[in-house]
Amino acid sequence: MLSQTDQPAPEPVQAGTVHGFSVAFSFPVSFTRKLWDPANRLFVDTVRRLEPGRRHRVLVAIDDHVVSANLQLVADIAAYFEAHAEHLALVGQPILVSGGEAAKNDLFHPINLLKQMNDAGMDRQSFVAVIGGGAVLDLVSFAAAICHRGIRTIRVPTTVLSQADSGVAVKNSVNMFGKKNFAGTFLPPFAVLNDFDFLETLDRRERRAGISEAIKVSLLRDPALFEYIEAHAGNLVAGDPEILARVVQRSAELHLAHICGNGDPFELGSARPLDFGHWAAHKLESMTAHSLRHGEAVAIGMALDVLYSVRMGFLARAEADRILRLLEAVGFRLWDDALARAEADGGLTLLAGLREFREHLGGELHITMLRTIGRSFEVTAMEESAIVASLYELAAREQDPRDIPSRAATVE
Ligand SMILES: NC(=O)c1ccc[n+]([C@@H]2O[C@H](COP(=O)([O-])OP(=O)(O)OC[C@H]3O[C@@H](n4cnc5c(N)ncnc54)[C@H](O)[C@@H]3O)[C@@H](O)[C@H]2O)c1
Ligand SMILES: [Zn+2]
Repeated sequence: MLSQTDQPAPEPVQAGTVHGFSVAFSFPVSFTRKLWDPANRLFVDTVRRLEPGRRHRVLVAIDDHVVSANLQLVADIAAYFEAHAEHLALVGQPILVSGGEAAKNDLFHPINLLKQMNDAGMDRQSFVAVIGGGAVLDLVSFAAAICHRGIRTIRVPTTVLSQADSGVAVKNSVNMFGKKNFAGTFLPPFAVLNDFDFLETLDRRERRAGISEAIKVSLLRDPALFEYIEAHAGNLVAGDPEILARVVQRSAELHLAHICGNGDPFELGSARPLDFGHWAAHKLESMTAHSLRHGEAVAIGMALDVLYSVRMGFLARAEADRILRLLEAVGFRLWDDALARAEADGGLTLLAGLREFREHLGGELHITMLRTIGRSFEVTAMEESAIVASLYELAAREQDPRDIPSRAATVE
């Protein structure tokens, strides 16, 4: 028998007129250490946040490189669930997911994850907890987002880049047809839990790569963060965990403030104000078949757009020098030979990145430029001759000047 409810019948609507509704999303983003110490209640209290009286089923998926860097992790998670068995039930053994970008390129992975979710009898009240770098977060969050049209997902980012930037994101994806992030959804996570201890098993290069996103967001939004990174560049290079944690946390807060406060969390418009330096970065990543890490490519992309900003009269030369010096002090190389690559017709291959960026945005080019450290604005066209001149400057900084193809056009 159907139960009776006291819900009033909705007002009849008229076809042909415009109707709508809005849905509010909220999710906590927390920072901690020793997430899986049974004495740390963050995970269990996060899962119980909306329904404290219930025993919650949680399927855990982990980046396999995180496990190989910490062989105790799977046992620690099992012990944590054991200690909090009143509120948490671990669904099966944690699933190990192949870490790194390659896993986003192969549809075997999301399908296998969906199969495991089906085998485990996951329902819309169950949780998926995903522990890993940005690639594994994207991949597992995508599978969870399409399973039953969306299972509650707790993201536990484990790289500098994912804690400082992508981990707080409301989107997920896999790559298809040779295009990055071609298939994906917007679905805010249930929670994001950042455990700084994970950063200690990253190699030096990986740890540094994510710092470029913190520098990026400081350039766009927070001069005080820029000055802090400037003052502590040596500590960051030396791997000081406390300084790194402060930079990562502030960067995550700034990215989060943007998602929650900019009025377009699901990116319906064309503007991408946080994607400073990214048009060139995305192209460089694919031109180098990902031998350049995303963060490394972003450092080069920012250096290029900083020099372009000077050339166009947007930014003072002294500010630009300060920015480039900081990127170099943190250890970024601001040149890659792919920057000078030419197409068969003699045009600069990099410039295809502008066209691809415009296509991704939906037809209209929006490129972020700097006015000063902490303040940005957007342009809707870029002059090829000024890009090429900026590339010459970057090449000269490398003390390895070279020929760079040029056709001196404006790309809009
Ligand atoms: N969803 C979004 O909004 C968003 C935003 C920006 C970037 N991203 C995505 O993030 C991905 C890049 O993320 P990333 O920079 O974290 O790289 P990554 O996920 O490729 O991780 C880098 C490497 O480090 C390993 N690793 C992860 N954590 C580790 C740890 N604690 N110890 C040792 N090794 C560890 C990984 O297995 C991988 O081999 C890209 O796919 C990018 O598209 C997504
Ligand atoms: Zn980025």
